[in-house]
Amino acid sequence: MRILFLGDVMGRAGRAAVTERLSGLREKWQLDFVVVNGENATNGAGLSAAHAKALLEAGADVLTLGDHAFDQKDMLRFVEEEPRIIRPLNFSKVAPGRGARVFPAPGGRKVLVAQVLGQVFMKRPFDDPFSAIEPVLKAAPLGVQVNAALVDMHCEATSEKMAMGHWCDGRASIIVGTHTHVPTGDAMILPRGTAYQSDAGMCGDYNSVIGMDKAEPLNRFITGMSKGRFTPAAGPATLSGLFVETDDATGKAKRVAMVRDGGLLQPAAP
Ligand SMILES: [Fe+2]
Ligand SMILES: [Fe+2]
Repeated sequence: MRILFLGDVMGRAGRAAVTERLSGLREKWQLDFVVVNGENATNGAGLSAAHAKALLEAGADVLTLGDHAFDQKDMLRFVEEEPRIIRPLNFSKVAPGRGARVFPAPGGRKVLVAQVLGQVFMKRPFDDPFSAIEPVLKAAPLGVQVNAALVDMHCEATSEKMAMGHWCDGRASIIVGTHTHVPTGDAMILPRGTAYQSDAGMCGDYNSVIGMDKAEPLNRFITGMSKGRFTPAAGPATLSGLFVETDDATGKAKRVAMVRDGGLLQPAAP
């Protein structure tokens, strides 16, 4: 199966890049399944129901969220109405929605999509992601119950992401990191067949500080004082993510490639 994952969509610029270019990429790269992280799509903080609908309409099969899952309050309800949205498994015991689900793919195939939050350097303490993902992977064995499985590992620390990659190696098709908004150059297939990248990077304007207009972040770093609000940078966005081709029988990754399309980042594609 040919799967594309796109990292955190950042504000209007990120949304525009997805709505303008994803359907073309689906066709060009003959994609079977597309997962998009939407946690920053609405003004950089959360995902509104309207913007979730727009990203799904643009060609995403599933949207994942993150620590900003419910910054837009209408997501508290919409996540229960729209099964194609996945919030972190370990967000909170009382969070609405689901942290993992099996989705249909073309040709009667099945794809598990799950998301977990890490614990290292995060603003809030979340439950242990390793024990959270364990029963989910056990319930959907690769090559038996599902043809592919993707886990979005949403956290700051590359060490924690790599540990998750190895913990799930051979049991998931793809472990991909999100949240830092900067793509790492370590796309690889781990020894037991799981495609891995520490961070997919954001879909946003890279002439920025992790997607925000650079004036206010610079001001805060330089002066230690807050002068205004953070607003998403509005220039042309790069679509950043990971392309993975999997074996339908085993669910293991056969090929992995970093994706960078448009905007400031140098192009990379399958
Ligand atoms: Fe993010
Ligand atoms: Fe995040």
